[in-house]
Amino acid sequence: MMDYKALIQAAFSARLNAYAPYSSFQVGAALLGKNGKVYLGCNVENAAFAPTNCAERTAVFSAVCDGEQEFIAIAIVGGKEQTKNFADCFPCGVCRQVLQEFCHPDFSIIVAKSDDDYQIYSLAELLPHGFGKTDLH
Ligand code: THU
Repeated sequence: MMDYKALIQAAFSARLNAYAPYSSFQVGAALLGKNGKVYLGCNVENAAFAPTNCAERTAVFSAVCDGEQEFIAIAIVGGKEQTKNFADCFPCGVCRQVLQEFCHPDFSIIVAKSDDDYQIYSLAELLPHGFGKTDLH
């Protein structure tokens, strides 16, 4: 089982590829699949603004495209382009809902300032009473 330090470092490396010319807010995510693979994501902005994709969703969609749909944890790091002092970057509501589609309530969301300064939340904590596939019956 991979340690969270390595997952956070992977999120920082993904952040280097962020495409964020409009906000200059660069985000990286690293999603650990049950298959042991780590899927990276960065935010990808757009001149029309609305089509912007967050780092977390980039990672989830990359994993699904690779054939993985079960996940253990995601590490998220974000901050302005030049910053060296990272603040907590929590996933937006849309990304929480996308995680809800594939992840159990005890899925771990690691919000990191550095690889030794982070907090871990469950998906249920960040999206209580989330709407999911079992509600469609
Ligand atoms: N963003 C993410 O990629 N993930 C988050 O958790 C918060 C926000 C991106 C979207 C946009 O490109 C920029 O950060 C500013 O909102």
